[in-house]
Amino acid sequence: MKFSHAWIERNPWLLIALVLVVISIGGLVEIVPLFFQKSTTEPITGLKPYSALRLVGRDIYVREGCYNCHSQMIRPLRAETERYGHYSVAGEFVYDRPFQWGSKRTGPDLARVGARYSDAWHSTHLNNPRDLVPESNMPGYPWLATTALVPDEVMPKMRALQRLGTPYSDQEVKDAPATLAGKTEQDALIAYLQGLGILIKTRN
Ligand code: HEC
Repeated sequence: MKFSHAWIERNPWLLIALVLVVISIGGLVEIVPLFFQKSTTEPITGLKPYSALRLVGRDIYVREGCYNCHSQMIRPLRAETERYGHYSVAGEFVYDRPFQWGSKRTGPDLARVGARYSDAWHSTHLNNPRDLVPESNMPGYPWLATTALVPDEVMPKMRALQRLGTPYSDQEVKDAPATLAGKTEQDALIAYLQGLGILIKTRN
């Protein structure tokens, strides 16, 4: 029997194995260089690990499933950059574990929403979006404003990130709970939102 194309196509298991070999070579060629490329592994200038308050806010964002309706990734297409601002770059997300890029956009992309509105705007909007945007179908999250944070809970989160390579100092971890005293879940979420994407802020 000759080792020919026709023969391979008549042997499904061999065909599957060879297809996997070919696809993995393609995958490796695309993926491996990204691990060594500065533009994808180094933080952009000025990027710092999340402050304790923003870190907690980020977890609330994940807990409440905001990502089900909001992406955080502006693609390099004109329609996107004109609406949202500069496209997202990999170096903005090095401290995001896990990242919140997403692709589902029931609401607008939030990658550069930081500093676009006041804290008071966000507070009203989170309590009941329809007070500001009558046609909005975003749910209200009024309990965030009345739920106090539990300051000590941030320490294990920061230690876990420290272990994964986020450059928090031991002193920062120790001092973190004090910075959360008296704050609500809404304060934390707003702090998180207000920092999104502000290091690259040119609107086009
Ligand atoms: C069911 C889908 C849905 C969910 C879930 C949702 N949103 Fe929204 N969001 C929207 C829609 C639609 C809009 C646009 C109308 C508006 O401003 O209310 C919006 C707008 C926003 C805006 C204003 C963006 C801009 O550029 O004007 C912010 C900020 C925001 N959402 C934050 C959040 C946060 C934080 C959560 C989670 C606590 C969340 N959203 C959950 C649908 C959603």
